[in-house]
Amino acid sequence: MQPLSSIVTERLELRPLTEADADALRGLRGNPDAVRFLSHQPLSAGKTDQLLADLLTRAERSTAACFHVGWAVVLRSSGAMIGDGRTWNTAEPPLPGSLPDRYASLGYLLHPDHHGKGYGTETAAALVRWLFTERGIDTIYAGVYEANTPSRRLLERLGFVRDHYFTANQDSHGKGLASWRYRLDRAAWSAGPPYGHNSTPRGSRR
Ligand SMILES: CC(C)(COP(=O)(O)OP(=O)(O)OC[C@H]1O[C@@H](n2cnc3c(N)ncnc32)[C@H](O)[C@@H]1OP(=O)(O)O)[C@@H](O)C(=O)NCCC(=O)NCCS
Repeated sequence: MQPLSSIVTERLELRPLTEADADALRGLRGNPDAVRFLSHQPLSAGKTDQLLADLLTRAERSTAACFHVGWAVVLRSSGAMIGDGRTWNTAEPPLPGSLPDRYASLGYLLHPDHHGKGYGTETAAALVRWLFTERGIDTIYAGVYEANTPSRRLLERLGFVRDHYFTANQDSHGKGLASWRYRLDRAAWSAGPPYGHNSTPRGSRR
């Protein structure tokens, strides 16, 4: 795949992860508060480096149709990486995954030092826009643990609606928590909400 362009929003730059993000990613994925409602426990430095290597391999193997991209969330004012995001429609590009055609998934994580300033919403809105406008996706899924109120509020702010409930027994990630799959359909996004229509991909894209 051709190198992906950054996505620039009012206060953030979202750019594809690189090897240079290893230290920042360790600070995120090793932070117990940050990963409490993620599908993994706090990661050691070694495990985080392995995660980054896997993400870089997946991004390299991605095509426009079958993709798995990890993003660094960077503050434009300082250049600091304050979070990471993920957009994917398959776990093992270039092979298709189990999602229906023109469906994709979204994930995001902000360092707790930067919560409550609108950065999470700004990040997710930009990735939603990227999936709809740059990848031609029609429906976006986001999985969220039921107890993760901040993330559920964020999704609902962007127009996501509850799609499917998974009991704690169905949790395959070892946390034993109930969760919701949320969805956002292109038609609902196009009709509103106000958030997410103003981030601009930097540079040209196929
Ligand atoms: C979920 C998560 C990404 C939210 O990030 P965040 O940056 O705190 O989210 P926001 O700041 O956009 O929104 C949080 C609140 O701040 C408010 N806010 C404060 N300043 C704001 C601003 N300048 N602009 C917009 N909203 C602002 C929002 O309205 C929102 O209020 P609410 O909780 O009453 O709805 C963050 O809690 C996180 O990273 N958690 C750990 C990882 C995780 O759980 N990821 C999701 C897995 S499903």
